[in-house]
Amino acid sequence: MSNILVNGGLGFIGSETVVALINSGYNPIVVDDLSNSKIAVLDRIETITGKRPTFIQANCTDYAAMDKVFTENKIDGIIHFAAFKAVGESVQKPIEYYSNNLKSSLTTLELMKKHGVRNFIFSSSATVYGCAKEMPLYENNETGDATNPYGETKVMNERILVDVAKAMPELNIAILRYFNPIGAHPSGLLGEDPNGIPNNLMPYISQVSIGRLPCLSIFGDDYPTPDGTGIRDYIHVLDLAEGHVAAMKKLESNSGLVIYNLGTGKGTSVKELVKAFEDANGVKIPVVIKPRRAGDVAENYANCDKAFKELGWKARFTIVDACRDSYNFQKKNPKGIE
Ligand code: UFG
Repeated sequence: MSNILVNGGLGFIGSETVVALINSGYNPIVVDDLSNSKIAVLDRIETITGKRPTFIQANCTDYAAMDKVFTENKIDGIIHFAAFKAVGESVQKPIEYYSNNLKSSLTTLELMKKHGVRNFIFSSSATVYGCAKEMPLYENNETGDATNPYGETKVMNERILVDVAKAMPELNIAILRYFNPIGAHPSGLLGEDPNGIPNNLMPYISQVSIGRLPCLSIFGDDYPTPDGTGIRDYIHVLDLAEGHVAAMKKLESNSGLVIYNLGTGKGTSVKELVKAFEDANGVKIPVVIKPRRAGDVAENYANCDKAFKELGWKARFTIVDACRDSYNFQKKNPKGIE
């Protein structure tokens, strides 16, 4: 059985991926510093899968702690989620973002080299495409003009990985560019659990739906889109998790460096998502129209043909499934995971 080191494996996408790995016969070894996740997630992974993954509480920038993880475990592959991810906060704290998001991946790459691990998956983002003029976005589109420090850390990490792949052709590296992950585990045990007021649309809608927040602000209804609100490619987190398993299998075939969009290929507007949430769950979401949010683009959605052709992966769940699962998680965890 292959051992997969999952850095940041108790977060929203990480925990769901750990479940998918276990269900596919992998043995995940989870490292997380609990800075933006809860230890209870480990119990919940065990409840869902019947298996408690090995867990090490460590910060991925800590070379000595991570060296110990590599020394004490035979690692066959790595999935690196661990990073700061709040766009607005990154503008306020660029030093912390560049430092953390680059050091954690570089430390992992150094140790990967030292311990002879060959397969590495990196969590990237659609943000690397910057303000693209044409949709959908293809993997070979130009990248590198992110609009904030968080996005720049993704661009920089991608550049580092391209150089590493050139210098060490024996490595297999997958860069996965996520679009907008939403939804939750259908059990209601795992889901998105942001600290404080949510920045992202779906956790905001679900907190409004249970009365934890009074109303959703829609940031702009004057975009050049059919209903004037921003369009994104929302992907169910279970589909995203399966994308990681498919990518790991690809790496095991000695793929070298590969890059994939993980989205649905379909754009949904803010108003459409709100309506889908209301219809799926029989609730009303009060909204108020506010000015555009700085840094937002009108439209952002993927072409995902490459992942289907090369990985046999495509998103299976609908927006309605994701709305139902997000609501179920929120109802079962009104104050988040405790
Ligand atoms: N929105 C609102 N009200 C809210 C929150 C969001 O109207 O309270 C709108 C935004 O204006 C946007 C859409 O909902 O049109 C989606 O916004 P999110 O904040 O949920 O997601 P973004 O597309 O802005 O950001 C996501 C990820 C980032 C990533 C970015 C680009 O959260 O990590 O996609 O790929 F960088």
